[in-house]
Amino acid sequence: MRHHSLPRPAVVHNGIIENYQELREELARAGCVFASDTDTEVLAHLIGLGLAGHGDLGRAVASALSRAEGSYAVAVVSLDNPGVVYGARKLSPLVLGVGQGENFLASDIPAFLPYTREVVFLEDGEMARIDAGSWQVFTVAGLAPVEKKPVRIAWDIQAAQKGGFKHFMLKEIFEQPRVIADCLAGRVDASRGLATLRELDDFPVPERLTIVACGTSYHSGLWGMQLLESWAKIPTRVEIASEFRYRDPILGPGDVALAISQSGETADTLAGMRLARERGAKVIGLCNVVGSTVSRDADRVIYTQAGPEISVASTKAMCSQLTLLLLLALHFGHKKGLAGEREAAVPLAGLQDLPALLEAALPGMRQRAKELARVYSEARSFLYLGRGLNYPLALEGALKLKEISYIHAEGYAAGEMKHGPIALVDPKFPTFALAPDDELYPKVKSNLQEVQARGGKIIALTNPGMDLRVDHVWEAPRAFGPLNTFLMLPALQLFAYEMADYLGKDVDQPRNLAKSVTVE
Ligand code: G6P
Repeated sequence: MRHHSLPRPAVVHNGIIENYQELREELARAGCVFASDTDTEVLAHLIGLGLAGHGDLGRAVASALSRAEGSYAVAVVSLDNPGVVYGARKLSPLVLGVGQGENFLASDIPAFLPYTREVVFLEDGEMARIDAGSWQVFTVAGLAPVEKKPVRIAWDIQAAQKGGFKHFMLKEIFEQPRVIADCLAGRVDASRGLATLRELDDFPVPERLTIVACGTSYHSGLWGMQLLESWAKIPTRVEIASEFRYRDPILGPGDVALAISQSGETADTLAGMRLARERGAKVIGLCNVVGSTVSRDADRVIYTQAGPEISVASTKAMCSQLTLLLLLALHFGHKKGLAGEREAAVPLAGLQDLPALLEAALPGMRQRAKELARVYSEARSFLYLGRGLNYPLALEGALKLKEISYIHAEGYAAGEMKHGPIALVDPKFPTFALAPDDELYPKVKSNLQEVQARGGKIIALTNPGMDLRVDHVWEAPRAFGPLNTFLMLPALQLFAYEMADYLGKDVDQPRNLAKSVTVE
């Protein structure tokens, strides 16, 4: 005997249905039997009831979604007509790929990049119907047709494949010289000492800047803040998006918020942008994914053009963000008449030499990272120290190690170490120090002596010819001032990579982490 004759839709769902308890109780009263505790199953039953009533999957999906609160990207198919898929989104990304005799729904472009580069970006409140040969977009409310044009994405298939590297992360670390070159293309006139960001041509110089971001992008913001203040003299603060969105920040018409996001879909960053706008600030988006929500919600968007980043742990995206933040500081400085041509010419000329310098250094860096990973693979915990521009790098180095090798690591401002972490130092608690040849070098050196006095082992990432006596000196080539960052960062990334790989971890897809965090 058959259990029931309800048509059974299958649902794929990303996000959270916030009122699912309420819907679940209602559905249970109507006789639905649940096989799980998930909010997704509630959607499936809701759609199933509609389908049983009138037999039209599109109407059933639309009416179920009109009752769902929260965020979702869904794809729905019914056993009766398996060649048709409906998809819809709300506060969670969903893109449609238009192929030849095949169409796709995915939350991210790289998923269908091997099959097509024609993309239709869906908006909140829209619903797509696809089968192998056709696609249409409708409004969820009322099912009215919506005109949409596919956009051709410049990324190619190779960009979404490993290209001979063992992991995407390694490939992406090695792509950084090209990423810097691409970010500079068409934006730098070194002979005139000019950085031009055409995206901001008629955009006024902010009186104050609030940078909002999460994770690695937040670390980029901390770094950028220092250049925006010292080169462009713009008072700048950097906010963790999940904190900022629930504060009561003071923002007004002279303020600009800069949202930094690789994916352009991070829920907290998007909420931070919305809050800034509500308070009267203009919003600039700095993001990698063309057509992403950040790029569409911002008043102006600067694309980082790093190409698809597949590894969950972000590497080349940070490199591209730093390059653009540096250009942004020069751009605003120039507009304010501050960064005189002579001053700007030095970093700009240095920037143009960077890709070749980094390209030549990367193989040796990887070798050194490998050696050191073997030596330190048994450490249970690491302290990363840096000052000034290297403080955000210390945070990033620690984050990379945590994310992919699952070794606890803490990034700290070297001068702040004496207020706590120094109590942890012993021969089994190593320190990774960022100690390039800059004005803070003597200070960092004395911080390291304090670590050594307590028996702590040290890896120091520095420049050739410095007088550090630590367990492991790691020399990176010298570059002009802040440009040293672009040589330190890959060393940190490679060290984390080699540790994780040596320990047999899943480098590209670390446990518990997601590439785009589209829920709170
Ligand atoms: C996730 C990723 C991180 C990333 C962060 C912010 O946590 O795993 O690598 O830095 O989100 O992402 P976004 O796309 O906004 O830069």
